[in-house]
Amino acid sequence: MSLKIASVALLSAVVSLSAADFDASKLPPASTQAGVTYEKDIKPLFERSCFKCHGAEKQKGKLRLDSLEATLKGGSNGAGFEKGASAKSTFVASVARLLADDENMPPEGKGKPFTKEEVGLLRAWIDQGTK
Ligand code: HEC
Repeated sequence: MSLKIASVALLSAVVSLSAADFDASKLPPASTQAGVTYEKDIKPLFERSCFKCHGAEKQKGKLRLDSLEATLKGGSNGAGFEKGASAKSTFVASVARLLADDENMPPEGKGKPFTKEEVGLLRAWIDQGTK
């Protein structure tokens, strides 16, 4: 019994480690654009690439990205980013396609991936305080 519990704990430690384990040196640099906001800069990217599964109709992983409030709240695993720390963000790593295959967003072949510039804009939005 206790052996079984130990192996379950070990498994979940491995799973959460892999989710946060990415090579931050491979992230595109944050954009130098000033005054990046959700409404002006980020929402249109989410609308194009993410709303199909994280909007009004579907909320995969209990996540909606169609309002600032919902984006900051996040899904079943939280927001995946902290203000000012875009280089540590699993959310950024997922659109930069640096996570495991099934954790990158949008899923392979299921929507337009972010360009390097767009990942940089998302980073700037997080680093500038997610306004
Ligand atoms: C074709 C559908 C689809 C599209 C498009 C899509 N996703 Fe996802 N997303 C999923 C699925 C499926 C999951 C996993 C849900 C689960 O099993 O928990 C997921 C999970 C997530 C999660 C983790 C949520 C949590 O807290 O568990 C994030 C963050 C995320 N997606 C971000 C994005 C972003 C950003 C985009 C656009 C760049 C995007 N997704 C586009 C299907 C999609």
